Amino acid sequence: MLINDLSRRLLNSRPFLDDAIRRVMDRSWFVLGPEVVAFEKAFAAYIGAPHCVGLANGTDAIELALKAFGVGQADLVATVANAGMYTTTALLAIGAEPLFLDVNVESRNVTLSEVQRALDTGVKAIVVTHLYGLAVPEITEIATLCRARNVKLLEDCAQSHGARLDGHRVGTFGDAASFSFYPTKNLGALGDGGAVVTNDVEVAECVKRLRQYGWSDKYQVEIAGARNSRLDEIQAAVLSEFLPDLDAANVRRRSIATRYSASISHSSIKVSPTYGEEFVAHLYTLRAANRDSLRQHLKTCDIATDVHYPIPDYLQPAFGSRYAHVQLPNTEQLCHEILTLPCFPEMTDVEVAHVIAKVNAW
Ligand SMILES: Cc1ncc(COP(=O)(O)O)c(C=O)c1O
Repeated sequence: MLINDLSRRLLNSRPFLDDAIRRVMDRSWFVLGPEVVAFEKAFAAYIGAPHCVGLANGTDAIELALKAFGVGQADLVATVANAGMYTTTALLAIGAEPLFLDVNVESRNVTLSEVQRALDTGVKAIVVTHLYGLAVPEITEIATLCRARNVKLLEDCAQSHGARLDGHRVGTFGDAASFSFYPTKNLGALGDGGAVVTNDVEVAECVKRLRQYGWSDKYQVEIAGARNSRLDEIQAAVLSEFLPDLDAANVRRRSIATRYSASISHSSIKVSPTYGEEFVAHLYTLRAANRDSLRQHLKTCDIATDVHYPIPDYLQPAFGSRYAHVQLPNTEQLCHEILTLPCFPEMTDVEVAHVIAKVNAW
């Protein structure tokens, strides 16, 4: 069993995807055209923010949002280190310096006290990642604190499209939010895609310029540090087709996760807590001290698993000893213990029961 079988989603949606792609080809307008405008409008309305700017991928969304905040060379920016290195990659591209924050082992997400530490250290901006599809539990307090200290807050929502806390979707708490539409995401394209969503018209206008060479008008470059990072028409058309189904798909993901947490019972395994609509179950992760042995056992049962993520950003080989002084105990524990089980909307109840039985039989 695959960890996420995209061929099933395509099987169900092929007729309307074919129509969407044909629509773009018939128009022969392939980059930054009416499909991008329509998707940006629909996605902004879905999230509950006035502005959405489509981009080439989610890593660019982090980078360009931070640039629009005014983050530049040598600025200190806080991020977690257990979220796959994406934010750190964006920071390195800017020339900014990451300040790594620890997470809570249950929620796997950043905490208010760590954000407080970042503010006291003098960061220029904070990136919070709503990891695995869970809204950062203290996001409201974090946003209030950042506002009071005049520090910009970017929410990385690449794994949490549609998660809702206190009636608000993630992506509306901070100054801006970054999204990825990589094919496996809860809202995924048929290739790369990303977006910045924001309440701030100046941030939106700046990201629009940054995504297209810094142009204020054609061939007139008004701002430096820009690039080509455009969402293309075919991906936008595909995303518009998938968007109406996102909430139902998230409900299905969450019901699979809830079942795992209720039915996996093993003395060496700690299941993920059960959540409500603040969790859209992008990934279902459990913890096991002997994680690799469980992984091997499931492999022999033909059940694919993965580790999101095995290496804290600051221990990545590319850094050598640059961050030898950094030690985040919860982050490191999670990197050793975490394991991701198959969890995608098209999984059948029989398959879910099969995974549970094999995990319990370990
Ligand atoms: C938490 C998180 N942030 C950022 C990204 C980057 O998105 P992309 O792969 O579209 O650049 C991803 C996805 O891969 C992600 O999972």
